[in-house]
Amino acid sequence: MKKYKWGLIGTGGISNQFAEGLTSLEDATIFAIGSRSQSSADVFAKKWKVSRSYGTYEDLYADPDVEVVYIGTPHNFHFQNVSDALNAGKHVLCEKAFTINAVEARELVALARQKKLFLMEAMWNRFQPWYGVVKQLLEEGRLGALHHIKADLSFRFDVGPEHRIYNRDLAGGALLDLGVYPIALASAFFGKPEEIMSAAHLYETGVDDQVSMIFKYASGATAELGCSTRYLSKNNATLHGSKGYLEIHGMLVRPAKITLQEQGEDPLVIETPHSSNGHQYEAQAVMDMLKEGQIEHALMPLDETIEIMETMDQIRGDIKVSYPGE
Ligand SMILES: NC(=O)c1ccc[n+]([C@@H]2O[C@H](COP(=O)([O-])OP(=O)(O)OC[C@H]3O[C@@H](n4cnc5c(N)ncnc54)[C@H](OP(=O)(O)O)[C@@H]3O)[C@@H](O)[C@H]2O)c1
Repeated sequence: MKKYKWGLIGTGGISNQFAEGLTSLEDATIFAIGSRSQSSADVFAKKWKVSRSYGTYEDLYADPDVEVVYIGTPHNFHFQNVSDALNAGKHVLCEKAFTINAVEARELVALARQKKLFLMEAMWNRFQPWYGVVKQLLEEGRLGALHHIKADLSFRFDVGPEHRIYNRDLAGGALLDLGVYPIALASAFFGKPEEIMSAAHLYETGVDDQVSMIFKYASGATAELGCSTRYLSKNNATLHGSKGYLEIHGMLVRPAKITLQEQGEDPLVIETPHSSNGHQYEAQAVMDMLKEGQIEHALMPLDETIEIMETMDQIRGDIKVSYPGE
């Protein structure tokens, strides 16, 4: 069996989680790690039994044996990291939020298409078992016509202003970090909103730490979405249709249970457990596309990623949050 050689960029929290997911896949190997520092790369390499460990990202891109690069750095670096990896001829999976704005996203998508290389935003929850179950229930018409979505992803972050989540230089803020999930969920079922209303609270660094959003779609559907690093929410989502509603329980990033409530019926609870830590599904999806010679995945298309960035640009415009250089 062919084993795809992954190279990971960044040795922080999410790269470790992604590495754990990769270890559960038979056709993947964590082949190389790239870090700003050789010592961090070496620690990561030892922990995850990685063959090659690089003290610069550039050295990893230059490794001819690396086939697909995973980007696990803060948002403001994604544009440079993805460009460099694509220009080195690598396929790329890049963490959410894909970039800091739609201008950057459009440029990366054009580059990947021009180079005929795979590129995808790591919207990992779309590749987990729950998502297929929800799509199937909708296709079977169990909710009737879908008219409204409610979703929130919020936790209290007890960290200081220098932390990535609040650091304006690192394109911090609740919207790009957490809000992207409810927005992507609504986008998956309703597309791009026609009208957006938003209200926010800003942290002392000038980035948002709480955003409430109402979207209206051309179809007449609506969505009520939220994200915050100040409060804890149920972190779930509800899809409301003409015949019933469907509650997606637990954290929106990795739901393990959904409840279908059809009008006049008893609730139907469907368990949707994930194996390993749930990150492996998106990695498998990338490799499935590479095997077929595809450069995009239909479950997370690049045009939708651009639309999501456009939506977040509009919200940031409304709540007056911008990043250096914008
Ligand atoms: N899918 C998910 O569930 C999930 C969860 C959390 C975060 N994320 C996403 O993953 C990305 C990284 O988040 P994280 O929580 O893993 O961040 P993190 O723990 O701070 O790690 C980020 C890594 O990026 C590298 N980096 C390069 N320049 C940096 C700089 N100036 N400051 C800080 N780090 C720098 C560092 O690795 P080296 O020192 O090795 O170069 C660092 O360890 C973000 O896009 C975030 O939205 C996704």
